[in-house]
Amino acid sequence: MSVLQGARLVVGVTGGIAAYKAADLVSKLTQAGALVDVVLTARAQEFVTPLTFATLSQRPVWTDLWEPTGTAAARHIELAAEAQLVLVAPATANTIAKLAHGMADDMLTAIALATAAPLVIAPAMETHMLAHPATQANLALLRERGAHIVPSEEGRLASGMLGAGRLPETATLLGAARMVLGARGNLAGRHVVVTAGGTQEAIDPVRYIGNRSSGRQGFAIAEAARDRGAAVTLIAGATELATPYGVTRVDAPTAQAMRDAVFAACAGADVLVMSAAVADFTPETVAEQKIKKRAVAGGDGAGLVLRLKRTPDILGEMHAAADQFPGLIRVGFAAETQQLREAGLEKLTRKGLDLVVANDVSQPGSGFGSMTNTVTLFYKDGRVADLANMAKSEVAERIWDAVAEMLAQHEREKTRKDSARAGVKGSTSDEQSRWH
Ligand code: CTP
Repeated sequence: MSVLQGARLVVGVTGGIAAYKAADLVSKLTQAGALVDVVLTARAQEFVTPLTFATLSQRPVWTDLWEPTGTAAARHIELAAEAQLVLVAPATANTIAKLAHGMADDMLTAIALATAAPLVIAPAMETHMLAHPATQANLALLRERGAHIVPSEEGRLASGMLGAGRLPETATLLGAARMVLGARGNLAGRHVVVTAGGTQEAIDPVRYIGNRSSGRQGFAIAEAARDRGAAVTLIAGATELATPYGVTRVDAPTAQAMRDAVFAACAGADVLVMSAAVADFTPETVAEQKIKKRAVAGGDGAGLVLRLKRTPDILGEMHAAADQFPGLIRVGFAAETQQLREAGLEKLTRKGLDLVVANDVSQPGSGFGSMTNTVTLFYKDGRVADLANMAKSEVAERIWDAVAEMLAQHEREKTRKDSARAGVKGSTSDEQSRWH
């Protein structure tokens, strides 16, 4: 289940032209199952109307701190108490200044002052206002107090100028909200490494051997780990997908590059999930110039013979080097077109894995390019779980449920060993005290 499902959010919209983009944000948050209380500042209402947001959020919109009747006078306190996250997007220089200095002269700033929920701020303004030392100092102050600032982007601004200060795309803001909401999840303090996408093995400067992997499942796995509080390194092969917010991406287009990136990233990591479709073979030699058909031995009409050699088996090498990565949980994938069970179990033992995620890529709604997946989980301890067809994001959650359980198990074993060791030490010193 997504971290946004059922989450209580206050979204503050302030008076900049980017306020119109907040409508899309509120729509997407609501679609993801969040309960969004929108607060508009007076200046925001010059650009957008409460009706826009009430329609999208299906909830009342708050504009006035000074409602005269009933319990409504304490509404900002109620909203502040119920919120799990306060997200200000777009945040103008003026609102940022007020937030930094603890002013509370409208509904939004009063909620921000009264809440214990984390604060996410997405500044959007003209380049010079953003660069001004006053704004920068205010942002630094907010950051110091624990607020999360989503960096604004460079691009075309409302003034017609090109520069920094644009409100990031909705996907980025959603990513930031999810990351901050999940910061204390069951992977908090963990470092996980995820590989995704297919590799491309060069034949000549213009051609390569590739595969149909889209990277979607791996990217969803990386996002889901981020949403549970993990620090995520995403090693990406060939994919069109944008880097998820808050995730460290390393591009590794070939099997060899991916092998090196995995070994480097796994030092000190807790989990490796190899969801990338790594080529098993690569051309023995890469032609320096584009191969011309006329130049192929035999001339016109003759076939081209490519000699291929094995690539490094990354999971195999990680298995052999397990001593270098103590405690690392290794998850492998098995993309098959037949005999799923045999292949899944065989990979589990041969590659010394803790978990294998196997799918039949020939089934509709499963595997390459699809938004959904039907997988079977094979655990090291012999358990097998056949999952129904579900969104790749949901498959990602199931994988992390399984891994989080293994991490907790490791933790318990470690505590038991530590206390046994402390017990031995304790008895030694008891004995010593008896002897001396
Ligand atoms: N994998 C890897 N290094 C490779 C190839 C694959 O680490 N050179 C990883 C994949 O990321 C996946 C798992 O190994 O997690 C299974 O990949 P697959 O290619 O299906 O397995 P193989 O061991 O190559 O077996 P087979 O060719 O028999 O399917």
